[in-house]
Amino acid sequence: MTGVDAASAPWWREAVIYQVYVRSFADADGDGVGDLAGIRSRLPYVRALGVDAVWLTPFYPSPQADAGYDVSEYRDVAPIFGTLDDFDGLVRDAHGLGLRVIVDLVPNHTSAEHPWFRAALAASAGSPERARYIFRDGRGSGGDTPPNDWGSNFGGGAWTRVTEPDGVPGQWYLHLFAPEQPDLDWTNEEVRAEFELILRFWLERGVDGFRVDVAHGLAKDPEMPDLAGNWAVSGPALEGHPHWDRDEVHDVYRGWRRVSDSYPGERTFVAEAWVQSPKRLALYLRPDELHTAFTFNFLLASWDAASLRSAVDESMAALAGVGAPATWVLSNHDVARHVTRYGDGQLGTRRARAAALLMFALPGGAYVYQGEELGLPEVTELPDGARQDPTFFRTGGAELGRDGCRVPIPWSGSEPPFGFGPSAASWLPQPREWAELTVERQASDPGSMLTLYRNALSLRRRLPALGDGQLAWVEAGQDLLAFSREPGFLCIVNLADRPADVAKELLPTGAGVVLASGPIDADGRIPGATAVWFARD
Ligand code: GLC
Repeated sequence: MTGVDAASAPWWREAVIYQVYVRSFADADGDGVGDLAGIRSRLPYVRALGVDAVWLTPFYPSPQADAGYDVSEYRDVAPIFGTLDDFDGLVRDAHGLGLRVIVDLVPNHTSAEHPWFRAALAASAGSPERARYIFRDGRGSGGDTPPNDWGSNFGGGAWTRVTEPDGVPGQWYLHLFAPEQPDLDWTNEEVRAEFELILRFWLERGVDGFRVDVAHGLAKDPEMPDLAGNWAVSGPALEGHPHWDRDEVHDVYRGWRRVSDSYPGERTFVAEAWVQSPKRLALYLRPDELHTAFTFNFLLASWDAASLRSAVDESMAALAGVGAPATWVLSNHDVARHVTRYGDGQLGTRRARAAALLMFALPGGAYVYQGEELGLPEVTELPDGARQDPTFFRTGGAELGRDGCRVPIPWSGSEPPFGFGPSAASWLPQPREWAELTVERQASDPGSMLTLYRNALSLRRRLPALGDGQLAWVEAGQDLLAFSREPGFLCIVNLADRPADVAKELLPTGAGVVLASGPIDADGRIPGATAVWFARD
């Protein structure tokens, strides 16, 4: 580690965290949906992978209109996922194995089935019950036009009109996502107080941190201006946007940081904030706010040396300004799996292998989305009848949505559901070809993606140059991304599809190849779409 005292650096500055998509990881009770007991039984696998922590996607009571990101009770476990006792057992087992546990916090909106929203519907316009959400009168003489032109992230408008208790059409409420996910009003003191209690509830149960859902969405311009003419209706978070990345959100996070700091241990927050630039992202990570945030510019960068290098540079420079580490990520439950994004098939897989070595060599922390360590591709052939993502329905099928990256992962055997659960059920169907990609098949194969991830993560723990710290770019040639880290480490990625020569004098003195994402030629050239780690080992 460079410039940071290894003994005192907090764990989250360089952690590798495994994202468990709870519905699709492991099903203990055979209903076709993953659950906490299933996760618990598979923790030794996660430990053996070599990560430091798990992030669990929402497992709270929910009508599942958006796969659990519509929470109807923030302090409990949904029966389909288990019980609070299962949760406590999971945390106990994880901690026993040396794994930390991060849970998902969904503060931008509740479920429409949340008692607060039911009470808001039963109450009248202007009531304290409605004041926890964003209710407005419609425009036009009958109030039958939405209050403004904001759009839902899942397609369609962001406003839904309610029927008042006396049966007449009434006010409209805002939902930046599905109508089943009404947005909370974060200027409301009750909302703020409630979320601090929710944080305390889970902190007291022993969680090590929170992933903050839609961290850039909590504040809205009280004037509620139309977007037309100024901003794209479903566009990115540009400066001054009326509902994305507004400066008022930061005050919320300062309050949360005071709460988390009052607990022993190094409890942490990671923000999901889709903002315009790394500079804007850095604002969330000022020393009295959140600890880390996904640097999505890396995920969004195309497979070429210049765009990856500038994504890394821009993130690291902006975050260094506030003393925060970068947090790299290649895939999650909202984007197409990177094997497919990088070209699919053999080429996509080769590039994904190289990308993993790049990511794990970069300074900071990293997230691994379940199944990427198996090299799973996006499932593009799901039957329409199986799809569940609200995006698919709200766009009339024009956008397929995110189900293709959420298919339950294959553990063993040669037939679906590949050991996912004890019955044949699986909430999304798995492709038959996944028989080749099971954990069982890959665990003993020295050339598998799983073996590459295990080797990379074990080296990452062992090599003092990796984790938190700095990098220095090395000019190795066109299409090559190369950087060194002290002491004695060099990562070279060949982004081109043909082999490249590497000058011997670029290698750190005494360093040899410690890991490569693909076979390297005896002549010292680096094949196309391949990454190599050199170190003194
Ligand atoms: C976040 C989640 C996504 C969810 C949305 C609304 O982007 O990652 O899955 O649909 O928030 O809660």
